[in-house]
Amino acid sequence: MAEDLHIAEGTKEEKYRLLLPQLKGLLQDETDWVANLANAAAALKETFGFFWVGFYRVVGDELVLGPFQGPLACTRIRKGRGVCGTAWAEGRTVLVPDVDAFPGHIACSSQSRSEVVVPLRKADGGVWGVLDIDSNRVADFDEVDVKYLEEIACLLTTYH
Ligand code: SME
Repeated sequence: MAEDLHIAEGTKEEKYRLLLPQLKGLLQDETDWVANLANAAAALKETFGFFWVGFYRVVGDELVLGPFQGPLACTRIRKGRGVCGTAWAEGRTVLVPDVDAFPGHIACSSQSRSEVVVPLRKADGGVWGVLDIDSNRVADFDEVDVKYLEEIACLLTTYH
């Protein structure tokens, strides 16, 4: 396993393009999904310096906090609540340019200004968790992030 993460110096897209094969290499050598989510959170945090990167897993009728990088976070989120619970309930990526404009946003930190949440889907379409990324800047995420984060979500399910 290569422990050194190489980070592209160019655009966001170039950073994702270099990150993806490295992440795949990391994940395919390890079968433990907690280890894989932990390294995925670390790789995203190290590459982009996001304020908070982490996972919530579906446990019964709630999302429960999983591996993450960043400040302390709320541990349980109900289906349909907040950005994470909405992404789970609707089975789709939710991009929030300004968290203050999202009704029901759950503020784990007052420093979080924008957010993107990508569901982790099983082959049958059921959601087993979500990838949640927060930025301390408004409108920090766009369609480039969505495209590559959805690819990363697929990778994580393959090696789940
Ligand atoms: N803001 C999220 C809660 C999780 S934290 O951002 C880590 C939400 O509204 O679902």
